[in-house]
Amino acid sequence: MTPIYYSVIAPAILICLDFGCPQSYISVKSIELWQVMRFSFQFLRRIKVRIALSFSLLFLAFAVPIIIYAVNQVNLFFNGLYLEQMRAVGMAIASVHDNGHPGDNDSLTARVSQITGSNVYLYGSAGELVSKRYEGSMHDTNSILSYPIIEPQPEIPPVFDKVRHRFIDIGTRRYLQVQTELPGGLILLQVKSLRRITMIARRMSEVIVWSSFLGLITLVAVAFWVSANITRPIEELTTFAQRIRAGRLPPRTNIVSPDEVGELADALNDIVDDLGAARERLGRLEVMRRDFFANVGEELKRPLQKIQLELAGIAGSPALAGEVGDAFDSARFQAQRLHHIIDTLIQISELEFGEITLEIKTVSLGRLLDSVIGEYRQRIFSKGLDLKIDIPAEHAAIDLLGDERLLGVVLRNLISNAADFTQQGHVRIFSEDNGVNLKLTVEDTGPGIPRDEIDRIFERFYRVKAEQPQGEDRTGLGLAIAKHIMEAHGRSLDVESLLGVGSKFSIHLKKVGQA
Ligand SMILES: Nc1ncnc2c1ncn2[C@@H]1O[C@H](COP(=O)(O)OP(=O)(O)OP(=O)(O)O)[C@@H](O)[C@H]1O
Ligand SMILES: [Mg+2]
Repeated sequence: MTPIYYSVIAPAILICLDFGCPQSYISVKSIELWQVMRFSFQFLRRIKVRIALSFSLLFLAFAVPIIIYAVNQVNLFFNGLYLEQMRAVGMAIASVHDNGHPGDNDSLTARVSQITGSNVYLYGSAGELVSKRYEGSMHDTNSILSYPIIEPQPEIPPVFDKVRHRFIDIGTRRYLQVQTELPGGLILLQVKSLRRITMIARRMSEVIVWSSFLGLITLVAVAFWVSANITRPIEELTTFAQRIRAGRLPPRTNIVSPDEVGELADALNDIVDDLGAARERLGRLEVMRRDFFANVGEELKRPLQKIQLELAGIAGSPALAGEVGDAFDSARFQAQRLHHIIDTLIQISELEFGEITLEIKTVSLGRLLDSVIGEYRQRIFSKGLDLKIDIPAEHAAIDLLGDERLLGVVLRNLISNAADFTQQGHVRIFSEDNGVNLKLTVEDTGPGIPRDEIDRIFERFYRVKAEQPQGEDRTGLGLAIAKHIMEAHGRSLDVESLLGVGSKFSIHLKKVGQA
């Protein structure tokens, strides 16, 4: 339907609109015109259209001159034939006169007329009509007589040099006039209508034009068919490749062809097979990774818990004084850190494999922010940073949908990062209501994140290489778990950062009652 619309209906509408349409239609028209042009260009770029057009142009380039040439040749041939015949008869009559057998004028014109099928006139040396004879249906040749006739020459040169001829066009008709000067000053004039031969030539040209037209249509149809046969598999393969690029693995294509198209299909099938195998391997590895975190994590946690219990048991003992006490504290801290790392890794893995069921409830933004910000207020102030909270009261009152505990983990990570990495300036938390969602942003005036590392900060254990406070308790897991939590909510965690200026981390939270 689309091709018909743009090639037939839309231009028709445009033409109609041309007739006294209101001004407001002009913009509509220009859009439509632009679309028609764009579609035409696109249409012309299709391989099959280009092949068909090339065939047609080639055909026209050769066929049209050939047709014109052929029709001309037919005309010339018959005209030549008539001319020769009429000349020959004229010459024969002249030679008969030369030999002294003038004969009767009327029987002369009658015989010539009979032989050549023309109207014959015989003029005397003073130009007066001596005899005439009409042949067949040529009654209209009287009008030719009003046409200036070549004046008889006063001196009569040898017979063969005195034969003259010319073509006369009267209206749409063409006549051949042959004039022969006979001895004794007589002029023999033969006038033959070329109507029949022009008719034959016209018919012939009609037949040639029609058969060429049919030939052209057949040619275009064949060109379309041939090129469609070539382009159809290419189009199929294009869709096939696009599906691979989009990450969907289509079933193998069953295009079999002995040419390059077949080779391309085979190559794409091999890619699909390889990708399928790789995906399967990856799936197996993912399962192994999940099992590893689940099993090994638990296995690691058990002795660790025991160590922590033991350490807790001896905490506060008088034996832990001085350096021993410091070593004890460090060991206890590291055990705690290790516990945290193992817990976080297991959590990330569970989030990744959808093994955590989110407790989606109504969460009050105000309450959530109050509890989280409260934990970091002191840390921010003690660094001499400004803490700006730009949450309008109406936003604070908004109820959101989500897992309150996990959303708290996300906000804690973002605010703690902003507080820890910023040395001067401010940490600002602000909200924007965009109807369906509430966008919450944590902005800081910290060092910023280099452009080439920005995607990597969400990887497990990744920490920016540039000089940044690398506190002993940092694990490089905060943003990884935050991102997984947001993805489990079907939301994203976005970052904008400019080196030396600061960073902005935003989350989009779903408002209650919004689809
Ligand atoms: N606001 C920020 N400004 C500058 N760099 C940041 C900021 N937030 C994160 N980064 C960079 O991204 C890295 C990863 O952050 P992430 O929160 O995952 O780990 P971490 O803060 O180093 O450790 P953890 O969160 O476990 O305490 C950080 O080490 C830091 O280099
Ligand atoms: Mg962090």
